[in-house]
Amino acid sequence: MGATVNVNGRVFDQEHAVISVFDHGFLYGEGVYETLRTYNGELFLLDRHIRRLRASASMLALTVPLTDGEIASRFQETMAAAAIGPGGPEAYLRILVTRGIGELTYDPAACPAPSIVVIAKPLEELPEEMYRRGVKVALVDIVRNHPGSVNPIIKSNNLLNNALGMQEAVRRGAFEGVMRNYRGELAECTTANLFVVRNGEALTPPIDAGLLAGITREFVLETGASVGIEVREAVLKDADLLEADEAFLTSTTREILPIVQVDDRAIGSGRPGLVTAALLAAYRNGARKSTVGMAGGVAAAAPSH
Ligand SMILES: Cc1ncc(COP(=O)(O)O)c(C=O)c1O
Repeated sequence: MGATVNVNGRVFDQEHAVISVFDHGFLYGEGVYETLRTYNGELFLLDRHIRRLRASASMLALTVPLTDGEIASRFQETMAAAAIGPGGPEAYLRILVTRGIGELTYDPAACPAPSIVVIAKPLEELPEEMYRRGVKVALVDIVRNHPGSVNPIIKSNNLLNNALGMQEAVRRGAFEGVMRNYRGELAECTTANLFVVRNGEALTPPIDAGLLAGITREFVLETGASVGIEVREAVLKDADLLEADEAFLTSTTREILPIVQVDDRAIGSGRPGLVTAALLAAYRNGARKSTVGMAGGVAAAAPSH
């Protein structure tokens, strides 16, 4: 099924959604975005995504010209137009805010109004098999952006650093690439955050390693304790990953996905571990609990088709 796209307040199907080639998002990658998903037909952690969108935009001196309520409405309208929501399949949502249309100059004053695009489509969840088996990652040579350059904390449309990392991972037959920072410490995956498990504790690189402050990562840091697992930040090196008992990646659409191999080397037993499984169960529980009982929760509890 195709996507439904809201371009500056007007809804189009995938084939007809267009943006000017003079939009600085297209010309220069000048823009920010968020990816969300629903559970029980309700947007999960919407407030945090809006907060991060505004924080990213402000680092580009870009204003998001909508209130939080207007952003939420735009998501709801686009989902409604896509006929996805409570009772049906879960939704994938992306919002992009770019500098807008203007002359060929980096001067922000050239662009009077930002462009706002919302994409809605049914969420394609990873097969459960991948959670049972785990995935292989590659420790790629592409270095994560220096925070003094295009700071990875900005969730920006300028994704060349990530794309190059992923290209290398794909060439090496891996599902994802783990990137190091300019100091040689582990930073994150190209589209996800990274955790290793050692002696029952789950560890993830600190924000100042130069990475995106993932909302799933944050949720895992908060909910680990509820299932008796210590989850904390720590500076990590290659050996911490290669010699870990378990490892996993986190993102909104992949949740908590076990990593069982790094290049040719098995992690731990080479199978997803118990700590990862417990955190995944806690994460899914937390996500469902925090969305059930909201407007669409009851309908969504009915069997979906
Ligand atoms: C580079 C990068 N790191 C981490 C993440 C995970 O972020 P979140 O958990 O907010 O989806 C993403 C998600 O797209 C990402 O692109």
